[in-house]
Amino acid sequence: MPLSKRTTLTQFLIEERRRFPDASGDFNALILDVALACKAIARTVAFGELGGVLGNHAADAGGSVNVQGETQKKLDVLSNDVFIRLTEWGGHLAGMASEEMDLPYQIPGKYPRGKYLLVFDPLDGSSNIDVNVSVGSIFSVLRAPESGRDMAEADFFQPGAQQVAAGYALYGPTTMLILTVGNGVNGFTLDPNLGEFMLTHPQLKIPQDTQEFAINASNSRFWEPPVKRYVDECLAGKTGVRGKDFNMRWIASMVAEAHRILMRGGVFLYPRDSKDAAKPGRLRLLYEANPVGFIMEQAGGRASTGSQPVLGVVPTSLHQRIGLVFGSKNEVERIERYHAEPARQESGTPLFAERSLFRN
Ligand code: AHG
Ligand code: MN
Ligand code: MN
Repeated sequence: MPLSKRTTLTQFLIEERRRFPDASGDFNALILDVALACKAIARTVAFGELGGVLGNHAADAGGSVNVQGETQKKLDVLSNDVFIRLTEWGGHLAGMASEEMDLPYQIPGKYPRGKYLLVFDPLDGSSNIDVNVSVGSIFSVLRAPESGRDMAEADFFQPGAQQVAAGYALYGPTTMLILTVGNGVNGFTLDPNLGEFMLTHPQLKIPQDTQEFAINASNSRFWEPPVKRYVDECLAGKTGVRGKDFNMRWIASMVAEAHRILMRGGVFLYPRDSKDAAKPGRLRLLYEANPVGFIMEQAGGRASTGSQPVLGVVPTSLHQRIGLVFGSKNEVERIERYHAEPARQESGTPLFAERSLFRN
C-alpha cells in the first residue's frame, strides 16, 4: 500500500476523537507521548552493545535490585526513565506507577497535573535483552480518582475493567505498537524512515481455537491439578482426549507471546503455582496482566486467573502478582472449566477418568 494511503497513529487518534465531540484531546496527547517514549526505547534497544546499554544496571556496584527482588538491567532503568521524562510534563497525568519503582511517581510541582494515571512495565522480557530476543513495553491508562494531589498506592487499585486504554510496543524485527481504547484493538508498525507509527493491523481478532500453547514447563512440578491436566492433554495430542496435536512455544517475553497470540491465536499460561508461597503467580496484575488482558478481550480472546476474569480482580497492592491465562477464547474457557470442576484425581471415581462420560 502506498504511504499516501496509510493512516498514521496521530491521524487515527484524531479521527477516533472526532466521534466524541466533547473530548479535550488530553488523552490523545498522552498516547502520543507514550508512543514517543516507545520509539525512543526502540532506538536505544536497536543499538544494543554499540550503545553500551546491555548488561546489569550499576554492575560495578554489585547491581541494583527492584522492589520485586529482581536484578535490574541497564535497559530496565533507562526505559523507565524515558517513560517518565516523555510523559510527566504534558499536564495529562495525575501520577504514574511502574515495575521499576517501589512507590507511585508524583508529577513534579513544576508541571500541571491531569486526570489520568499511567501504569507501565517499561521493558518486559528484559532477561532476553542480552541475547537479542524480542522485548517490549506495556502500558495501561486509568482515570485518577481525583486530580491535584499526590497519588497514593490505593488510587491505582482499580480493576482492569476500568482501564481507559492499554497497549504495548514490541521491539522485534519490526517495532509495533498495539493499542486499545476499549473499541477493538489496532496495530501500528513503526516506519523507520519517517519515525511514525502507521496503522497496519486494523481491528485485530484472535482465532477462538488454537493448537499452540505457551507455558514454562520447568515449573510443572509446582502446577495445580487443573493446569497439569490441561497441559497433559495437549501433550497427549492426537492420541489423547483432545484428538489433535499441539505445538509449544516459550519466548520468556510475555509481550512477544501476547503478540504471537494476537496475530495467529494460541494460549499463554503463567498460572498460580506453589513454587514460592509469597508469590501467587509470576506476572504482575497492574502493568502486565491487566493491559494484556484488556487487549485480549478487546480482540475477542479471553484473559483469566484460571478461576475468574482477570479484569474483574480488585488490586490490593501496586506490585501484586497473579496467575494469568490468556489467548484464544475456547481454550481459556476450557482451562477455567478445569479449575471449576471438582478435583478429579482425588475423587477416585471412574466417571471422571480419561474418556469417561463427563469429559470432553
Ligand atoms: P520482566 O522482564 O518485566 O520482569 O517480565 C518477565 C516476565 C515475562 O515477560 C515472561 O513471560 C516471564 O517473566 C518469564 O518467566 P520465566 O523466567 O519463568 O521464563
Ligand atoms: Mn514484565
Ligand atoms: Mn519489566
